Amino acid sequence: MPTETVYGLATDAANPRAVAAVYAAKGRPAFNPLIAHVSDVAMARRIARFDPRAEALAARFWPGPLTLVLPVADTAAVCDLARAGLDTVAVRAPGHPLAHALIEAVGRPLVAPSANRSGRPSPTTLADAMEETGAAAGAALDGGPCAVGLESTVVGLLDAARLLRPGAVTRDQIEAVIGPLAEAEDDAKRSPGRLARHYAPDLPVRLDATQPRAGEAWIGFGALGGPDLNLSPAGDLAEAAANLFAYLRAADRSGAAGIAVAPIPGEGLGEAINDRLRRAAGFVG
Ligand code: TXA
Ligand code: MG
Repeated sequence: MPTETVYGLATDAANPRAVAAVYAAKGRPAFNPLIAHVSDVAMARRIARFDPRAEALAARFWPGPLTLVLPVADTAAVCDLARAGLDTVAVRAPGHPLAHALIEAVGRPLVAPSANRSGRPSPTTLADAMEETGAAAGAALDGGPCAVGLESTVVGLLDAARLLRPGAVTRDQIEAVIGPLAEAEDDAKRSPGRLARHYAPDLPVRLDATQPRAGEAWIGFGALGGPDLNLSPAGDLAEAAANLFAYLRAADRSGAAGIAVAPIPGEGLGEAINDRLRRAAGFVG
């Protein structure tokens, strides 16, 4: 299933056998819960308990690249396995018209992790998704290249509002709606998928590289980088986000000995880009 962020491997959130097949196809540990994708806020309210902060964020950013972690309201509609046994559920209404149409047609929530195998970069084209987990899919929808290219922002609203995963909706955009975000606690516990090495290509990744070393493929940004594999020659962070995972894959396939990535500014979307890069390189963010 295409979404505006990355391709997902989607299935019926209520069906434990189908959900188990998704975990198996990804090689994903069963302690890492999935996001339930809904067509609109009405469907979301049937599976999760909304508070005023959740209502305000959904009104501002849905459909779109924001996931809310809330107390679960219907443990059958999003089965225990999909939630990794937690009493919470992650929910988002994707902005891509094909994803929206699919969920509407099914009429109930679909869980959809990114369609990569566990630990690998998320796929941003159908071809990349097919290469990762396509063998397990009964059908595939081609929505073209993903416009955003980075996964949704995950915000926990269980007590204080916390940023569990930086993403396409920036910290500033969220704080403009609900006020200051609290610091994330031990992030492996709060958002169980946040492992140190994640989003990783096969080759070693070196960050903040102002020049490539011999044998390295160089992924540039702005003035730092050649014409090949420059995330955004104009220095535009949205363009860089959209290209990031595809360029990591291209560098991985290039026959180089390693991947060097130019420095990326940390503000706005840069927070999420740098988060993914640190994990691709094997550092906890
Ligand atoms: O953009 C996206 O969010 C994509 C597209 C396909 O929608 N999906 C995606 O799913 O990135 P996935 O499974 O790759 O990442 C989901 C993240 C994981 O870090 C997981 O730990 C976290 O959301 N998560 C899911 N349920 C949670 C919960 N109940 N509490 C805390 N974190 C949760
Ligand atoms: Mg993922």
